[in-house]
Amino acid sequence: MKIANRLKQIEPFHVMDLLGRAKAMQKEGRDVIHLEVGEPDFHTPKEVIGAGIQALEQGKTHYTPATGLPELKQAIAEFYWQRYNEVVDPRRIIITPGASGALQLVASLVTNPGETMLLTDPGYPCNRHFLANVNADGILVPTQAQDDFHLTPDQVAKYWQENTIGALVASPSNPTGSIMSEDQLHQLHGSIQAKQGILLVDEIYHGLTYDEAKPHSAVNYGDDVFVINSFSKYFAMTGWRLGWLVAPHWAIESLDKLAQNLFLAPNTPAQYAALASFNPQVIDELESRKAMFAQRLHYLLPQLEQLGFEIPAKPAGAFYIYADISGLDHPYNNDSMKFCLELLEEQGLAITPGIDFGHKQGHHFVRFAYTCDIPMLEKAIARLRIYLQSHTDKKTVP
Ligand SMILES: Cc1ncc(COP(=O)(O)O)c(C=O)c1O
Repeated sequence: MKIANRLKQIEPFHVMDLLGRAKAMQKEGRDVIHLEVGEPDFHTPKEVIGAGIQALEQGKTHYTPATGLPELKQAIAEFYWQRYNEVVDPRRIIITPGASGALQLVASLVTNPGETMLLTDPGYPCNRHFLANVNADGILVPTQAQDDFHLTPDQVAKYWQENTIGALVASPSNPTGSIMSEDQLHQLHGSIQAKQGILLVDEIYHGLTYDEAKPHSAVNYGDDVFVINSFSKYFAMTGWRLGWLVAPHWAIESLDKLAQNLFLAPNTPAQYAALASFNPQVIDELESRKAMFAQRLHYLLPQLEQLGFEIPAKPAGAFYIYADISGLDHPYNNDSMKFCLELLEEQGLAITPGIDFGHKQGHHFVRFAYTCDIPMLEKAIARLRIYLQSHTDKKTVP
């Protein structure tokens, strides 16, 4: 057996242990509520599926250009114009196998071995692994609740080292669902520019933002920023494996070369299917789903607060709530993994331990994904209440 040393840097998801147990419980006939899953419960819209089937039937089963179908790039460019009032040169749009493919492409493109990038703690765990896979390193910056767990210019100044080449942030964020304000994003961009570094902004949860929250896209900040997005979340196409990258002009040729070598091309039928995502009827459907996500958030957030969870970062997007358990009267209020395992075992409710997202405070956070309907969320809250009540003598759980 010979496994490369860099694999030591790559950790599996802790939630996989939970998922394994949840599946075993379901096999035994137990009813499990899944609030751990990071994908929409909604299926891909019918019209999009139809377009994929049609592509297959028409023999569109061959490679496309390495960076994707020109007509899909055009459609995405028009989407940027409609949503963000920004003219994006379609040549800057690189279609990839999911946002994951885009993140791997950029990691390969910009880092030399031994170089570092600033990442947020908490944040999406794969980011540091994409870097490790090219022998680069993620520096996990412990972000603060008062900044909604977003990276600030002061932290850029503090954590930037000689070998640091840039920063990767997500807005809305996974696991917090919090959004960077226009001001926060603008200032962060300025601080990275001042370091002559590279800013990567993961906008995979754009489209899923609620209430007054207005998403600001980093495409509006000129062509020096890498913007990552995907058909997975807003468009409900996780299994089709399709995403994209908006890259600076200087990177296009090298990305083309890399994409040819690493992936050859993104999935062809998925690209034709994705073209149908921009049809007005499909967008209407996606917008009504977004309204349902907003209703779920409005239900779940106050319920969790009433139970004693503290939610320091305001969730206004994605479909996640990142809740602090340290104030709960519970023996595992500082061990999110044990908390989640026991909750699953006793009440059949699956949520994700914070240790999947953060080293700094992950032990006293858990993530709830509101990827099921309100009646199911009501059931989940009832189970959570019983669980908390059964572990406190003081009966403080409302
Ligand atoms: C912040 C973030 N970025 C990227 C991804 C990867 O998504 P995909 O490859 O399905 O587009 C995810 C998936 O959950 C995510 O949460």
